Amino acid sequence: MAATNTTDRRQALQAFDDTKAGVKGLVDAGVIIVPPIFHHPPDSLPTSSSSVTIPVIDLFASRSDVLAQVKAAAETVGFFQVVNHGVPAVLLAETLASVRRFHESPPESKAPYYTRDLAKKLRFNSNFDLFQSPAANWRDTLFCQALPDPPGEDELPPAVRGVLPAYSGAARRLAVAVLELLSEALGLAPGRLAEMGCADGVVVVGNYYPPCPEPRRTLGTSRHSDPAFLTVLLQDYDMPGLQVLVGGEEEEEDGRRRAWADVPPVAGALVINVGDLLQLVSNGRLRSVEHRVVANGSRDGRARVSVAAFCNADLSARTAAREYGPIEELVSSSSAPALYRSVTVPEFLSHYDDKGLDGRPALDYFRLPRP
Ligand code: OGA
Ligand code: NI
Repeated sequence: MAATNTTDRRQALQAFDDTKAGVKGLVDAGVIIVPPIFHHPPDSLPTSSSSVTIPVIDLFASRSDVLAQVKAAAETVGFFQVVNHGVPAVLLAETLASVRRFHESPPESKAPYYTRDLAKKLRFNSNFDLFQSPAANWRDTLFCQALPDPPGEDELPPAVRGVLPAYSGAARRLAVAVLELLSEALGLAPGRLAEMGCADGVVVVGNYYPPCPEPRRTLGTSRHSDPAFLTVLLQDYDMPGLQVLVGGEEEEEDGRRRAWADVPPVAGALVINVGDLLQLVSNGRLRSVEHRVVANGSRDGRARVSVAAFCNADLSARTAAREYGPIEELVSSSSAPALYRSVTVPEFLSHYDDKGLDGRPALDYFRLPRP
């Protein structure tokens, strides 16, 4: 039955949300078609992958090599993977396993955590933007506002207790190290970005992409850029799906074709990407690039798991009013006029959430008119 008008669609979304069982619940109930609320229009971009490769950077290499590679990646594709990053392999494995354990626990043990209440530090739901976006995604998510004030251990679902807090701390330490490199890449003192508070707050998001019976009709995550300064992403082993939109940078007049480049899972690696707020404070020098996750077409019934650590300002009342705009040293009235106005992080996030993943960059809203 097609949702032919907005009332039907609204009712179908509400009925789905009321199950509190997410997409995993649909798959467990044996759906063999993708319900209409999840149908996406065919993408106008080619689905074939670009040959661009997202660099894998060995952090044990010399500082100058690492710096050059990080700078090149952050200024172009906005994504890179890191190995020898100092986060123990067992912690990575346990983190993926704990998120899988949560999503695969019985529906009645997950339902109490199902909420859209942003005041809750721990939230389980399917599609944070279910009621805003034009099409829903084949994905369920566990959100945890992990740092600086983590929820109490007893507030965490047993499946992730102990593990998620340990991972949050490790991801933050890596983010601070990467922010040092990015500060240097911008010609700033190494501590500059971290001192601005770019990694004071960490939200850890455990995504679960169930196998999809008709993967070409929907997506795992719609194209978007990240509402953060920096993202550290842990991808499941041997489960591809993440793609980055490459090509067509503004300065390229020949219009190199825009296409999706795969970010293949690399054992033991972590993916790092520049978020919207880092693009804003770097006045466009570091690029927050759109990416998406294709629906999981695996035929063996295995779900794909990923864990994103979004590094942001500390949004507690103390510092939430802090304004972020292009860093003064990076702005000059002639060659590099300020591209964005200043925002508070809550103002940015509420614009991002209200808009939903509709294919338009959230940052555009804060652009200044060209002088
Ligand atoms: C995200 C995201 C990618 C993935 O959560 O913002 O882009 O592989 N996730 O799940
Ligand atoms: Ni993302």
